[in-house]
Amino acid sequence: MTEKKPYYITTPIYYPNSNLHIGNTYTSIIADVLKRYKNLNGYDAYLVTGTDEHGQKIMRSAIAHGTSPQKFVDIIADETKELWKKLEIDYDTFIRSTEAQHEEDVKNIFKKLYDQGDIYKGEYKGYYCTPCETFWTESQLVDGKCPDCGRDVEYQEEESYFFRLSKYEDRLKELFKNNPEFLEPQFRQKEMLNNFIDKGLSDLSVTRNSFDWGVDVPFDNEHVVYVWIDALSCYLTAIGYGDNPKRFEKYWPASVHLIGKDIVRFHTIIWPALLMALDLPLPEKVFAHGWILFDNDKMSKSKGNIMYPEPLVELYGVDALKYFVLREFNFGSDGNFSSKKYMERYNSDLVNDLGNLVSRTTSMIDKYNGGIVKKGSEFDHFDDELKDLAAKTYNDYTEQMDSFEFNEALQTVWTFIRRANKYVDETEPWILGRDENKKDRLNTVLYNLAESIRIVAQLIEPVMKNTTKEILAKLGTDNKGFASASKFGLIEEGASVTKGNNLFDRLDVEEELVKLHDKNNELIKKRLGNTKDDDEIKEDQVAEISYEDFAKLDLVVGKVLSCEDHPDADKLYVFKVDIGEDRPRTIISGIKKWYDMDDLVGKNVIVVKNLAPRKMRGIESEGMMLAADYKDELSMLTTLKDMKPGSKVS
Ligand code: ME8
Ligand code: MG
Repeated sequence: MTEKKPYYITTPIYYPNSNLHIGNTYTSIIADVLKRYKNLNGYDAYLVTGTDEHGQKIMRSAIAHGTSPQKFVDIIADETKELWKKLEIDYDTFIRSTEAQHEEDVKNIFKKLYDQGDIYKGEYKGYYCTPCETFWTESQLVDGKCPDCGRDVEYQEEESYFFRLSKYEDRLKELFKNNPEFLEPQFRQKEMLNNFIDKGLSDLSVTRNSFDWGVDVPFDNEHVVYVWIDALSCYLTAIGYGDNPKRFEKYWPASVHLIGKDIVRFHTIIWPALLMALDLPLPEKVFAHGWILFDNDKMSKSKGNIMYPEPLVELYGVDALKYFVLREFNFGSDGNFSSKKYMERYNSDLVNDLGNLVSRTTSMIDKYNGGIVKKGSEFDHFDDELKDLAAKTYNDYTEQMDSFEFNEALQTVWTFIRRANKYVDETEPWILGRDENKKDRLNTVLYNLAESIRIVAQLIEPVMKNTTKEILAKLGTDNKGFASASKFGLIEEGASVTKGNNLFDRLDVEEELVKLHDKNNELIKKRLGNTKDDDEIKEDQVAEISYEDFAKLDLVVGKVLSCEDHPDADKLYVFKVDIGEDRPRTIISGIKKWYDMDDLVGKNVIVVKNLAPRKMRGIESEGMMLAADYKDELSMLTTLKDMKPGSKVS
């Protein structure tokens, strides 16, 4: 037995700062399809995906949700795995950058680079973009903002360790010159050369010391490793860099890193330089796809214009989703996601073209031949045209799939499907069926149609494996492997065909648009309702205040004496709270969803005493009680010991 050729594919290691949307999903769907395609063609493909869980961005998101970073990422990492299950993403390793083995490996990598002089200590002065987790110099900023995302940057002066990126400048130039396959689409190479490498590379700050949510620098516990070094290392650690040398040797170097165009620089400048320093072979290819806009706009949490993949899968199935994203977007360029287009393509490509061909063919075999496939011996030039196109389809399709032209590859198959539908019109089996003398010719026609469908089913398996299974079951034949699509005439005479249900049912576009948007909006509300945009988080949560500002707050311990329903508001309680003054304060609070009326009576709470009084539905509220909340959970704050009402909180 010969060993299969390994083929290692990666997706980006996604930030779990919020649930993944259709844009992130796009990369993973491509990775999945590529893996299945390679495996069907005799490779041993290995797919790594995961979550990039450290860094300032995640830490701030956790703060904004009122929880610890670890708890915060645990939830989203689980939800991401759940999502990949729903989308039938066939990954081999899901790496989380907070796993112990990975952290240990990152420390070893960092130590090795330090010991050999590729990392040294210095001082960083410059700007930092937290949403991008990127360092910038003043001259790189555009109008004082991050040149990548246009958001505010923060000035930073801190002690830092640096990676000698400058040392690798010449080797990087050579890499781009000698290896045009390394980065695709190729126009991105010019961007990297013109905008970065040719301008001269400065050494890269690779640690942070103003927060600690990261991998500790093994020889200096004041610092954590810069999140991008940590994240890129996942590509090594996920296949056993530190703990499974056999697997590592087998799969490294990666055959392809699939990424979006936003992170090309990290993957084709910083990453190769790190690998050179580690004396490891470079990945064979980095493929950067374009950006998916949503209704022609950049998806953004604050605008609430996000499309999640879950509603699409729930309503229209996973095969349709994979088909749509591969067929609709030109891999490499930007594209627009439109729900209406989704429904229209579903109706035209899946219902009309493919579904119709299958249902026509199976019902005619049923009607004229009692569901049995027979071979005829009377031929016509239409048959040759169909067979020739089948052969060309296989060749073009594989060539296009091999060059990451997924959109074109599916177009190729659909051209064949339409040709087969036209063959039905040309050969007019319903007329042949009326004449006993034409029986032999009719058998040929029906055989050719059944065989065309079989070929289509085999070709689309990497993208739509459930549909493949369904079609082959209807044809009463087995899966003969991907390569069987290169041969015409393999379906057995005598195969027993069943019409069964439609593969795809026509969608009422207007009706479905409402359904889809309702479902999506529900998710948006659930996932983003209580959270804030990155910019807001930065402003509310991390803006520094002086001690004097803090001292203006008069926080005291209170004891809840009573609680009643507000007479004029369903959602509000009216509390009487003793805060050590001569009379209790009246405080109104909207916490009915979490607490019954007597839950808090007798309990200590924390009260903001000097908040300006405010009328709420006719009753004046004289202060506020503090609570913590995350997503749908809420808890009142209290003291660990019973304290005297009026005790100062500071
Ligand atoms: O950058 N259209 O993670 P990330 C298409 N943790 N693709 C999109 C997209 C859109 N609108 N939005 C996101 C990170 N993507 C780092 C990666 S790798 C060692 C570390 C895809 O969660 C695209 O592939 O911001 C992009 O590169 C990736 O999601 C970024 O995900
Ligand atoms: Mg991003």
